[in-house]
Amino acid sequence: VSQIQNNIAEPQSNLVDAFLLPSLQQARAYSIDTPPAQIKLDQNESPFDWPIEIKKRVLDRVARRNWQRYPSPFTWELNELLAKQLDVSPENIFTANGSNVILSILIATLTKKLEGKVVVARPSFAHYESTCRYEGISYEPWNLSEDFQYDISTLPELTPGSLVIFASPNNPVGNVLSLSTLDDLLTRHPQCLFVADEAYFEFVSEDYLQLLKRHANLIIVRTFSKTLGAAGVRIGYAVAAKGWFQHLHKLRLPYLINFFGLEAAKEILQNPELEALRCKAVELILTQRQRMVAELQEIANENFRIVPPHANFFLMQWKDAVSSEKAYRSLISDNILVRDVSKGPGLANCFRVTVGLPEENEAFVNSMRKIIKKV
Ligand SMILES: Cc1ncc(COP(=O)(O)O)c(C=O)c1O
Repeated sequence: VSQIQNNIAEPQSNLVDAFLLPSLQQARAYSIDTPPAQIKLDQNESPFDWPIEIKKRVLDRVARRNWQRYPSPFTWELNELLAKQLDVSPENIFTANGSNVILSILIATLTKKLEGKVVVARPSFAHYESTCRYEGISYEPWNLSEDFQYDISTLPELTPGSLVIFASPNNPVGNVLSLSTLDDLLTRHPQCLFVADEAYFEFVSEDYLQLLKRHANLIIVRTFSKTLGAAGVRIGYAVAAKGWFQHLHKLRLPYLINFFGLEAAKEILQNPELEALRCKAVELILTQRQRMVAELQEIANENFRIVPPHANFFLMQWKDAVSSEKAYRSLISDNILVRDVSKGPGLANCFRVTVGLPEENEAFVNSMRKIIKKV
């Protein structure tokens, strides 16, 4: 590999500077610490894989396609299935190979002709701030309160033409913005556009879809990666008024979703067995989460606090950096990986724990019982 690299001429820095924004050059690339660990509670994935017979059926359909041909350019069939499920029209749907792709397209496009501000929730999904930096977009943070809640009083003043990006339930914190608060914001700021990332909506009782009937200034983004147990399949979608997507569709590259993604997505939307598994998974994760949090609260003392969670993960904030680092490392030595988010803005001494299988959660709590005696 090094020999091949040596054969490629490197550009002078002034050539790079002539083409790439300083904010992109200075930004850090996405990285994830993945030391080997048997118990993986670090990526908010579903702990449940699909039944092998269903996987085989999907693969069989993929095998029977003509691989020398392009797939459907705009996945209308998938949009129709999704539209039916959500009781909207196919023109209200925008699909891509992962919701992070959709978020990137939305952020890059909706800020080109900016008349107001870009406001990004903080701490929230790091992809929003990273994308702004990669694209050279100035933005203002919407800081959560001391106790990690959305607080309207800390929302920057929204001048007409502002774009607001946030998640609910919010990763990595686990807090939510209530339906009524969003309803109120959308009413009060009809000239602003809100991008609501609902990657974890299946874990809460109220989702935002109904708001689209009354508010054209809302774009909802969702994913198949979490409750649907399909992070490896890479499917995300957005729902909003046609008025947005008739133009944004031009920016969606054709053939974005390959044969495998299309067939797996169709299976998810059409197979009642997968839907039943999804419901069971959500129920089990919520029961498990409640139990884990209760057990951890018992041993917390003044060492850490847990932000009340609303999805398949929870945030633990430790009393100081030394104990959070020590706990994180001790968990790894017990073969358990959680997500160290402590370098993110507003997340000092924090790590995030995904709810896994019952036996994995038990191992985590047992490991914490040991660790708490040492910090
Ligand atoms: C809030 C939020 N939005 C979007 C995503 C990205 O999901 P996808 O797998 O669809 O790209 C994640 C993944 O962790 C997330 O937590």
